Amino acid sequence: MIESTLRLSTANLTELEHLALNSELNVADGHARQQLSEGQQRIIDELPTLFEKAAVQPVADLERDAHRAFFHLMGQQSYPIGPNPVLSCYASSVAMEILARSLVTKTDAVALIHPTFDNIPDILRGVGLRLVPLEEDPLHAGDLSSVVPPDVGCIFVTTPNNPTGRVLTRERLAELAAECRRKDVVLALDTSFRGFDTRSHYDHYAVLEASGCRWVVIEDTGKLWPTLDLKVGLLAYSENVGLPIPKIYSDILLGVSPFILALVERFAEDAAGDGLADLHAFVAESRRIVRTTLADVPGVSFPDPDSRVSVERVDLGGRRCADVWSALHERQVYALPCTQFHWADPSLGDRSLRIALARPHTSLRAAVRELRAVLLAH
Ligand SMILES: Cc1ncc(COP(=O)(O)O)c(C=O)c1O
Repeated sequence: MIESTLRLSTANLTELEHLALNSELNVADGHARQQLSEGQQRIIDELPTLFEKAAVQPVADLERDAHRAFFHLMGQQSYPIGPNPVLSCYASSVAMEILARSLVTKTDAVALIHPTFDNIPDILRGVGLRLVPLEEDPLHAGDLSSVVPPDVGCIFVTTPNNPTGRVLTRERLAELAAECRRKDVVLALDTSFRGFDTRSHYDHYAVLEASGCRWVVIEDTGKLWPTLDLKVGLLAYSENVGLPIPKIYSDILLGVSPFILALVERFAEDAAGDGLADLHAFVAESRRIVRTTLADVPGVSFPDPDSRVSVERVDLGGRRCADVWSALHERQVYALPCTQFHWADPSLGDRSLRIALARPHTSLRAAVRELRAVLLAH
């Protein structure tokens, strides 16, 4: 049974991920835990040299090179480099905290995509912001005027979304940005899972800038590469954003480790070769393992057929995720219940689980076989 100090219904997703950290069969957190590729292993073999380089090179140069390599890898040629340069943070959650603290100086409400990873609503609520749910279907199609409620100061969209993998198209982003401009609402994006899906590699910054809206984007190097959580979150914002972002950044940090910046640059360069395509093939194979292993389990389905991100939702049919989660836990297998992703209405996630795909295929296969046995018994 779940540890006595933690109740499944009230635990946040990170608490549940923490339980899984020491298990071989951890398919809970969305961190990258696959094996290093040969190219990545070569970078790790050169870490002492990289450390020496980071120690002597000016931080501004390292930061500029890391940003350029990462943003260009993601197709984001128009990222800001002028008077409002991108701010490097220890993690994307830190960028999120800076955004939340900035927003609350100007507004009391945010419209937030629903469902999404629960630390986003938790951070926004943590500074006292009121949240209005923004459902994915109306966000992606139909009349946008009702999607942007009149009484909020910001629209927050995770794209690709976690856990559904849905991606805002270029056309839809342009429409949403125009609507935000009309209503003078900040448009904030979390693109932490962008690296997995080339459909989100169009130049978002060009679209946002062309609209004239006030915008903020949180990028993340942390979901892609198995760097043992050596990562940065990147906080980009428009010159006209009207929020005290650099001031609040400086209330929290001076900057990130130059060593990690140098590492990010090297991993991004490696990915710009064949590395990113290899990673996409790896995740596609992980997804195939999950879907084929569970294919004939009665009632089970996969609600996100087009998803390319490194997590996969499994619809459990009539089964409750709390029961399945507990039975998996008894077998030392850890996945995430989807309840907490539905921050505005947890009951909507009651019948699904999320499986992390960025795992060695042997571990993933073993975990999903256990899941299959549990499902067949329920
Ligand atoms: C969409 C999204 N944004 C941000 C985060 C936070 O990332 P980190 O823990 O690296 O700060 C997560 C974590 O999984 C996430 O899913």
